[in-house]
Amino acid sequence: MNAFPYDAVAFDLDGTLFDAEEGIASSVCRAMESLGLPVPPEADLRELVGPPLRDSLRTLLKVPQEMVEPVMTAYHDVFRAEGMRRYAVYPHLRTVLRMLKDGGVHVGLATSKPRKMAEAILRLFALEDYFDRVAGEGMEEKQLGKAELIRRALPERYERAAMVGDRRFDMAGAREAGVDGIGAGWGCGTEEELVTAGATVVVPDTEALRALLCPGAQVPRGFFLSVEGPDGSGKTTQVDLLEKSLRQYGYSVLRTREPGGCPISEDIRRIILDTANADMCPECEALLYAASRAQHVAQVIRPAVERGMLVLCDRFVDSSVAYQGGGRGLGTEVVRQLNAPAVGDMMPDATLYLSIDHAAALRRRLRASEPDRLELEADDFHERVQHAYEKQIRDNRRRFLTVNADQSVDAVAHDALKAVLSRLLPQLKDKD
Ligand code: TYD
Repeated sequence: MNAFPYDAVAFDLDGTLFDAEEGIASSVCRAMESLGLPVPPEADLRELVGPPLRDSLRTLLKVPQEMVEPVMTAYHDVFRAEGMRRYAVYPHLRTVLRMLKDGGVHVGLATSKPRKMAEAILRLFALEDYFDRVAGEGMEEKQLGKAELIRRALPERYERAAMVGDRRFDMAGAREAGVDGIGAGWGCGTEEELVTAGATVVVPDTEALRALLCPGAQVPRGFFLSVEGPDGSGKTTQVDLLEKSLRQYGYSVLRTREPGGCPISEDIRRIILDTANADMCPECEALLYAASRAQHVAQVIRPAVERGMLVLCDRFVDSSVAYQGGGRGLGTEVVRQLNAPAVGDMMPDATLYLSIDHAAALRRRLRASEPDRLELEADDFHERVQHAYEKQIRDNRRRFLTVNADQSVDAVAHDALKAVLSRLLPQLKDKD
């Protein structure tokens, strides 16, 4: 089977690569409001993704002719400042782009957005490196039209090319440009709209797009990210926020946790955390954590990473080294060895550590809900946990990403995302 049936593919931006509805709708509302115009109804706002905005302002939203240009200017300002931050890459597309690029397929962008704005969006989401050519409209009234944009997004020579888009304009443009039109069924247009406009095929979701564009290519290995921190570091809140942000960047995230993450391991979790088991000896506790981990790695983590997912795991083996090795005094090396058969070669590619002093963490914990058995441990236990974590970090500098967790929720979330992206997307490193 040919690994890549098309040697050149052009993509539409809004509604195809990105879920753009919220970003566009909120920016149009703000722009119209700022000029004293009435805010459009929900149903009309949903129609804005895809066609050139100027046309929609005139025909759909009935903006008076003399107000069209002022609305466009205000819209561009709001969009640049905040609208595009509400965009989200559709799931799996980051992987599809990467697979096309790695396979030597020409990848282009054909958007009716101004080219500069499209480039800014690709940059914000660190997708620009996947595109060989970006074709967009200028800022002025005169438009090139979709067929011309598609021609410009494709190379001079190709064997077989396609345009992937979610609206009738994309499919009509593809026909006019003489390339296959692949309808993006996950976007804003209906299947009927796409077929009527001449789609060669309509794919229901982004997985099906991958199967169509890269049928014989292997999905690249995913990424294993663990998150660690002492009790009271705000870890669960931060994992929630991080999951949301990583999805917005287009990562296929599998969120899981330890102890737990699959039925057998969740059963073991109940035994370990049960306050009725206060007389559990440290060795038993450490072995139960390792047993639960072995099942979790075999059943959840390894298969997901092999399928190309980003596994986001709330605690992993570093917790055992810190809590059982340091806190319970079993010794960090003993605990590491005890976990070796459970972990195998599945060590995290990166570990986010939420750093907070044990005294500050204790103050936070006492304000939170009912403590479990481990949380009831004396404070020197938590001090030993913290020290064991710190030693782990010193010994594994390349793997750990340390963030100061003694800040506001938003500040920690910002720093955590930045740290994680710096590892996932090294090209973003110097940007804020
Ligand atoms: P959990 O319910 O996950 O709470 P938190 O939000 O603080 O992570 O807590 C699990 C507890 O189990 C936590 O106190 C740390 C402890 N633990 C270990 O002692 N060893 C381990 O290997 C793991 C994974 C957790």
